[in-house]
Amino acid sequence: MSLINDLHTPANVLVCGASQGIGLALCTQLLARDDIGLLFAVSRRATSSPALEVLYREHPQRLVRIDCDAREEHALQALATEVSTCCDQLNLVFSTLGVLQEAPARAEKTLAQLDMAGLLSSFTTNCFAPILLLKHLLPLLRKQPMAFVALSARVGSIGDNQLGGWYSYRASKAALNQLLRTASIELKRLNPASTLLSLHPGTTDTQLSRPFQGNVAPDKLFSPAFAASCMLALVSRHGPAQSGTFWAWDGTPIAW
Ligand SMILES: NC(=O)c1ccc[n+]([C@@H]2O[C@H](COP(=O)([O-])OP(=O)(O)OC[C@H]3O[C@@H](n4cnc5c(N)ncnc54)[C@H](OP(=O)(O)O)[C@@H]3O)[C@@H](O)[C@H]2O)c1
Repeated sequence: MSLINDLHTPANVLVCGASQGIGLALCTQLLARDDIGLLFAVSRRATSSPALEVLYREHPQRLVRIDCDAREEHALQALATEVSTCCDQLNLVFSTLGVLQEAPARAEKTLAQLDMAGLLSSFTTNCFAPILLLKHLLPLLRKQPMAFVALSARVGSIGDNQLGGWYSYRASKAALNQLLRTASIELKRLNPASTLLSLHPGTTDTQLSRPFQGNVAPDKLFSPAFAASCMLALVSRHGPAQSGTFWAWDGTPIAW
């Protein structure tokens, strides 16, 4: 099945958040496909990730590793410049960076645990960085069919919030969803063959979720490889008509 609707040439792909977890699993699966051209694997420590090094040895012609702290706008500008020296079009971008509990960001249970540093840190990584990634890559996304996919989280759904807690993570993902929805409306005009999606990968066994896996039933905890294969299946099933929507790993829509 083709990954990007109506694209008849190999897709150039960028994964931001590629050094581990779901982003790394996406890189592995993308490089195994023959409909992928260049793959840009981006994270703060992409060039020192042992797992990306292994992939690079297998695919030296197709994998480009770039160190970039997506919280820094000048670094995003430099990223876009570097990518544009290798190709003039990206067809698929995954934003897989995210933070739940990495100081100063905290998975707050109570209002008393909220502070400005934690809120700012969560919003900067989970929401501001992905939308500014889209802004800086936009010149590379305007001509051909393209998809920009951000890993959001079901807990970012306001309609679905029955449990409370995780204030800044929830709110930063809700804000990310709103920014993507807004961008999808602008992009419909700039590139009618564009698809922007917010996706929930399911609870997945990665560094991000590890401190919170205690109450998760084993059959509800996915491997990064399973989550990545679900994300790729969702990308191939959705096109411009679904741009600006929010989906779970199993293909069910999630309320805003
Ligand atoms: N795991 C879950 O259960 C789950 C559930 C729902 C949603 N999600 C979402 O899915 C996405 C992927 O999560 P994951 O569990 O795979 O996380 P993870 O294992 O912690 O991986 C996060 C990746 O993002 C990169 N990263 C972090 N900050 C960055 C920055 N400032 N600039 C560039 N790269 C950065 C990290 O690499 P470096 O350290 O090298 O920068 C790493 O490669 C996140 O958006 C998360 O919120 C996860």
